[in-house]
Amino acid sequence: MTDIRDQLSRPLRDLRISVTDRCNFRCTYCMPAEIFGPGHAFLKDPQLMSFAELTRILRAFVSLGVEKIRLTGGEPLLRADVPELIRFIKTELRVPDVALTTNGWLLEKHAPALRSAGLDRLNVSLDSLDPKTFGRMNGQGFSPERVIRGIDAATAAGFPVKLNMVVQRGVNDHDIVPLADWARQRRLTLRFIEFMDAGNHNAWQRSEVIPAQEIVDTLSARWPLAPVGPAYRGEVAARYRYLDGSGEIGLISAVTEPFCRDCNRARLSADGKLHTCLFTALGHDLLSPLRTGATDEQLHDRIARIWGARTDRYSDERAERLARGDLVPKAEMSYLGG
Ligand code: GTP
Ligand code: 5AD
Ligand code: SF4
Ligand code: SF4
Repeated sequence: MTDIRDQLSRPLRDLRISVTDRCNFRCTYCMPAEIFGPGHAFLKDPQLMSFAELTRILRAFVSLGVEKIRLTGGEPLLRADVPELIRFIKTELRVPDVALTTNGWLLEKHAPALRSAGLDRLNVSLDSLDPKTFGRMNGQGFSPERVIRGIDAATAAGFPVKLNMVVQRGVNDHDIVPLADWARQRRLTLRFIEFMDAGNHNAWQRSEVIPAQEIVDTLSARWPLAPVGPAYRGEVAARYRYLDGSGEIGLISAVTEPFCRDCNRARLSADGKLHTCLFTALGHDLLSPLRTGATDEQLHDRIARIWGARTDRYSDERAERLARGDLVPKAEMSYLGG
């Protein structure tokens, strides 16, 4: 294995793959329905990495130090070959930690197949338990019941499940305590994600971000909490445990306390572009070279060169950039997978 470092000495350990840019939800903070309507140009089949192309690219990443792979989308469960892909990553590439982030809508049906394919764990988005708020946030009027059935099916299949709640002031902040209470009862780790200025269409405003510390203060007034150290270096969520033994929570403070310093994550879009940061608009094309005959060695060297030149730290620089009105175009979360 070649161990590579970027310009800030950060290794490459974690790869997030968006397997499709399509989604059955239209979350207002990610794919607002007015923009992602019937006329939206999603990637067409020939643009997507085929199974064989994807596995070649993954092999190169693993040989460069990747030990954690996360499948995302859009909604990854819309792609039929996901279980087969997981099986390949676990058995052929022997990646220790393979996870998937889903909105849970199709999870009840797919949980057993994902488990038998070897998937290690699941993160499920759940922004509210209140049907009105949830329906408004997912842009489709979908109720949380079916997602909850998906979560239960995943737990029954033996998965460790974490919940992701994107918190937006004035939209679902009244759901923080009820959702925490619900997750405590099921001993599921709930992570609160600060609303981010991802993509170009979610009308992000700083005033709608609820600082992670405010959430810790609210919850600990009710159920005392103690901080827990990170599970691994570069973990995105800051963890806290309930002193009464009811499990833990996580805070993803990408706005108020960015974590770029330890960022060891690369992102691969469904059309085979390598993005070295969630916020970069343009990725480095890995698929075209492959299609025009690049060898495995050339692919490996190309990834190593791109990583070696990396200087990204968008979240660290956000405040200065916004202050000087430096508004650059960004990749969409649905395209790049969060
Ligand atoms: P674990 O491996 O379970 O800790 O998962 P994770 O938190 O890395 O992944 P998940 O897909 O559940 O992401 C949760 C939230 O964290 C999403 O909103 C992501 O966009 C955000 N996130 C993950 N990695 C990064 C990152 O490198 N930068 C920023 N700004 N946000 C990130
Ligand atoms: N800010 C914060 N989190 C977001 N996600 C999608 N868009 C945003 C945003 N603008 C989250 C989803 C999912 C994860 C992959 O990314 O809710 O949990
Ligand atoms: Fe919502 Fe995830 Fe779909 Fe975006 S990709 S619209 S966050 S479910
Ligand atoms: Fe990594 Fe970019 Fe997120 Fe910073 S903003 S943690 S560099 S992906």
